[in-house]
Amino acid sequence: MNEEETVVTPWEVKGKLDYVKLIEEFGTKPLTKEIIDKLKSISGGQHHLMIRRKLFFSHRDFDLILNLYEEGEKIVLYTGRGPSGPVHLGHYVPWIFTKYLQDVLHAKLYFQMTDDEKFLFHRNLTLKETKKYTIDNALDVIAAGFDPKKTKIIVDSENISYLYKIALKVAKNITFSTMKAVFGFKASTNIGLIFYPAIQAVPAFLEMELTGERTYTLIPCAIDQDPYWRITRDVAAKIGYTKPASIYNKFFPGLLAEGKMSSSIPESTIYMTDRDEDVKMKIMNAFTGGQPTIREQREKGGNPEICTVFQYLYFLFEPRDDKIREREKACRKGEILCGECKQYLIDKIIKFLGEHRKKRKRAESLLDKFLMK
Ligand code: TYM
Repeated sequence: MNEEETVVTPWEVKGKLDYVKLIEEFGTKPLTKEIIDKLKSISGGQHHLMIRRKLFFSHRDFDLILNLYEEGEKIVLYTGRGPSGPVHLGHYVPWIFTKYLQDVLHAKLYFQMTDDEKFLFHRNLTLKETKKYTIDNALDVIAAGFDPKKTKIIVDSENISYLYKIALKVAKNITFSTMKAVFGFKASTNIGLIFYPAIQAVPAFLEMELTGERTYTLIPCAIDQDPYWRITRDVAAKIGYTKPASIYNKFFPGLLAEGKMSSSIPESTIYMTDRDEDVKMKIMNAFTGGQPTIREQREKGGNPEICTVFQYLYFLFEPRDDKIREREKACRKGEILCGECKQYLIDKIIKFLGEHRKKRKRAESLLDKFLMK
């Protein structure tokens, strides 16, 4: 049987995802117990759910960031979104964690909206459309609860005057052959995309540029964005800035078996703006680890490790450790059926999205405060 090749780039994620292998291939580091214990002690609380369940799993220099924070240095957060459509639950994962880090590290956040990147990448998207999604997606970002006094949303095409001088310094220090090696660019790639990574590097340096202070940037995101940080880190010292650190989450899975949640398969994707009926329909059709018949399920039990419904509960929707353990056991023993788990998850997601909807509505009046002027 031909196994589908695994590909993880900022523009494509496919095949079976082996996160141990990805750490090796990308040259990042695993999040060790020592590091997460330090984060816990700085936070003064419990391990965050996404750390406990290992949704965040890898990093570059996150340990250094924690040390620097303890030494009283200023930490700045940076993350972003490519506005090519509505926001889904997968995108929301790093934002939930970034909000937690903002609280723990008392940090400013630069949030980049790359309407330029998405315009350049998607043949059919106009700048007007990426701009429309920028505003739409910004409401989801704000709804994640970031501190309006400490957060700035940068819209590339609007705020280019802040970005361009730094982007030039970055671009001057990267050759086309590096870009080909890191991003797989070809002779047929449009030249906008070839320059674009210099723009994505900029917010990692922006605070230093604007304040003249030496600060340290931490970037929470999924591991697909790592190629950007490799080149950003390479040029940092050459152009007089500190190297950004990063912390990476795994991909939140799609609902139809293997693969990440992706906008290219809407039936496998829960959007932050889905209606209750959409959620019901999608979860009811989700891929589970259940047996084909109730009798077999009762006799043999299910397989939570391949079940998307179980993974959704595990990573996000069942924060209680005792309850998730009980559910796993009951599933393996055939004591619960997939329909029951699905209904439980539907109720959880509908509640979560209902709350999000209210926060998103409130975000409309805050938009102006968040957008970089
Ligand atoms: P974008 O819009 O593709 O993704 C937004 C954020 O979501 C992460 N992500 C996921 N996380 C979990 N599960 C998934 N299924 C999933 N799919 C995507 C991405 O890693 C990202 O963190 N080029 C970027 C925009 C950007 C950016 C940044 C992202 C600009 N500067 C700094 C992170 C940090 C993009 O198109 O992201």
